[in-house]
Parts: sequence; structure tokens; C-alpha cells
Amino acid sequence: MHILVTGGAGFIGSNLVHFLLEHRPDCHLTVLDSLTYAGCRQNLARWEGDPRFRFVEGSITDPQAVDLAMQGARTCLHLAAETHVDRSIHDGAQFIATNVGGTQVLLDGARRHELERFVLVSTDEVYGSIPEGSFLETDPLCPSSPYSASKAGADLLALAHHHTYGTPVLITRCTNNFGPYQYPEKLIPFFLSQAMQGHELPVYGDGLQVRDWIDVEDHCEALLQVLEKGSPGEVYNVGAGHEVTNLEITQTLLDLLGKPQSLIRHVQDRPGHDRRYSVDTTRLRALGWKPRHEFRETLERTVDWYRRNQAWWEDLRRKREEYQKFYEQQYAGRLGGG
Ligand code: NAD
Ligand code: TYD
Repeated sequence: MHILVTGGAGFIGSNLVHFLLEHRPDCHLTVLDSLTYAGCRQNLARWEGDPRFRFVEGSITDPQAVDLAMQGARTCLHLAAETHVDRSIHDGAQFIATNVGGTQVLLDGARRHELERFVLVSTDEVYGSIPEGSFLETDPLCPSSPYSASKAGADLLALAHHHTYGTPVLITRCTNNFGPYQYPEKLIPFFLSQAMQGHELPVYGDGLQVRDWIDVEDHCEALLQVLEKGSPGEVYNVGAGHEVTNLEITQTLLDLLGKPQSLIRHVQDRPGHDRRYSVDTTRLRALGWKPRHEFRETLERTVDWYRRNQAWWEDLRRKREEYQKFYEQQYAGRLGGG
């Protein structure tokens, strides 16, 4: 099995590369990644020189780079994307170029190279907010942010390619991931890095927004199951069913770090902020998947990882400079650190 993994130097992508090479020792992987601010080749350092691993630096929006990366591959797990909601509020153009435009280039490549399976890693955010209950795969898409709208565009485009050309597309829509290697702008790693430096944690609005958290390794296992056992043309929700408010997570992170709750600072709410996400995962569970990890245990492991890898996140935080200015203005907070 030779798999192309796009976005393999990012958070979920690098965890996926580790997961696949460890759990499918006979598989070969090509990673295509353009190493944006969120991509870090060092995340994959342990596989450099391994004959099963090849890294192509290039953009999914570039047909030549896609052709090169698809050589020899039989399947594709497509993760490359612009992924941060706040950045998409700041400037959505790159989100459309990468998430929609890049997906179109990859889908065309999948046809040219006659790939046997093409898994698009979408998100639960394409459904929008749900006050109670959980979204089914058949529910309409109603994205709220430029990020989720660009992901919904990619998602629908992929389904249209299946419908029109018979491209063997499968879609996954997963909830919020956490674990090692997550860029320190998303809630958990950002708050960990703020607290470790003694800075305040800017909780948007009342902090009672709900997200359903999944261990990144459980997501990786779900992607492998969908790749191997899913039906082309089908959509699979992915989630562990662990719903928590942002405030609860923030309080727990501070407890685990032994830092005072007084570091919590409520700031202006995110524009268009989705209140709650929740998905029904019955269809995925019918393939034999279930989450293996407990929320608390993963949170403790994640805190430990960020404690032990301070140099990693300090280095990446330096790439926040321009965005940091927007962030501070947007949330009008007294944020410390760079
Ligand atoms: P990330 O931001 O950590 O990583 C994205 C990766 O894509 C980076 O390595 C970056 O360099 C690469 N990339 C960006 N633009 C590219 C381009 N034009 N060409 C090639 N590579 C490019 O993101 P993540 O959190 O690991 O998310 C991965 C995927 O999973 C995304 O598609 C995201 O929408 C989806 N997803 C994420 C979550 C989550 O909680 N993080 C939940 C559901 C779905
Ligand atoms: P985030 O990690 O950006 O993921 P998403 O918006 O894709 O769910 O944010 C998770 C939640 O945390 C979301 O409700 C917004 C909130 N949040 C804060 O309250 N403060 C912050 O500084 C960040 C980055 C997020």
C-alpha cells in the first residue's frame, strides 16, 4: 500500500504518519506539504532515511507538485489546509485558495493517476452549530466561519467529483482534536504555552461554548478504518462524544500545570462564534471503530508533552508575529508573550 498524505507536516498529519508507519509496517508513504507557518518538517524527523518514507515539499495548488507526489501512490489521505478559524476571520483568501482550490487540483490528480481511494479530511464545523442533539452525515451543511465555509466547499466538491466522474472519494468530518504537535494557536496548546510563560488565558465571551474533543490518535485510527473499509461516495462523522465547555478545559489545564485560576481572562467573543458542535458517529462505529483514549488521560499526556517540548512550541510561536497583532486587536486583551 502506497499512500499520499497531504499536510503530513502539520498537527494531525504528523501524528498520522507516525501512526501509519507504526501500525502498517508494510506501507509506503509520500508526504506532500508546502511547510506553511503550521507545517514543521522536524515533526517527521524520525522517518527521514526510512525507505518507506518520502517527503515532497510543494503546494497542493500546484499540479506539477501534485503529479510528482502522486507517482506510485494508490490512495490519498488529504489533510493539507489552512485550519485556524481566527486567521480565516482575519483574512479568508488563503483559505479559499488552499482548501477549495488545492482540493480541486488534488481531485483532478486523483483522476489522472487513477487513485483507488481518496479520503478528504473534512470537519464537523461544516454543519455549523447545534444547540442540542447531534448532526447526522445526511444533514445539510451550514458553515459559519470563512474556515468552515472553505472546508464545506472542499467537501461538496469532492462529493461532486464522486457523483460526476466516479472518483472514489470518502469524506470524514471530525470534531476537535488534541495531542502532541498541535500548533500553539489552537485552544489547548495556546493556553498551555501562555500559562507556562505566566501569561493570561483569553477565554472568548462566557467560555460556555461546547466542543467535542478527540485524541488525535483516535482520529488517525478512524482515518485508517475509513481508508481500508469505508464505501466510496460515503461521509463518516468522527468523534469521541466527549463534550466540554472551553471554560472547563481552561480550568483543568491550569490545575494540571499547578497555575492559578486568576490567569483566566474573559475577552470579547469571537465574531460568528459557533456555540456547540456535536456529531453522531454510528456509521463510523459500524466499521468497527471506537475511541480508545480517555479525555483526562490524553489531556495529562498532552500537558506533559508540551512541558517537555518547550523549545518546539517557542520556536513555532515566533511565527505568529503578524497574526498576533490582529489577535490582540480583535480580542482587545492584554496578552503577554510573542
Ligand atoms: P495544521 O494547520 O496543523 O496543518 C496543516 C498542514 O497543511 C501544515 O503542515 C501545512 O504546512 C500544510 N499546508 C497548508 N497549505 C498547504 C498547501 N497549499 N499545500 C501543501 N500543504 C499545505 O492542521 P491540522 O489541525 O493538522 O488539520 C489537518 C486537517 O484536518 C485539515 O484539513 C483540517 O481542516 C482537518 N481537521 C482538523 C481538526 C482539528 O481539530 N485540528 C478537526 C477536524 C478536521
Ligand atoms: P480552536 O482551537 O480555535 O478550534 P475551533 O474554533 O476550530 O473549534 O478553538 C476552540 C474553542 O476555544 C473555540 O470555541 C474558541 C475558543 N478559544 C478561546 O476561547 N480562546 C482562544 O484564544 C482560542 C484560540 C480559542
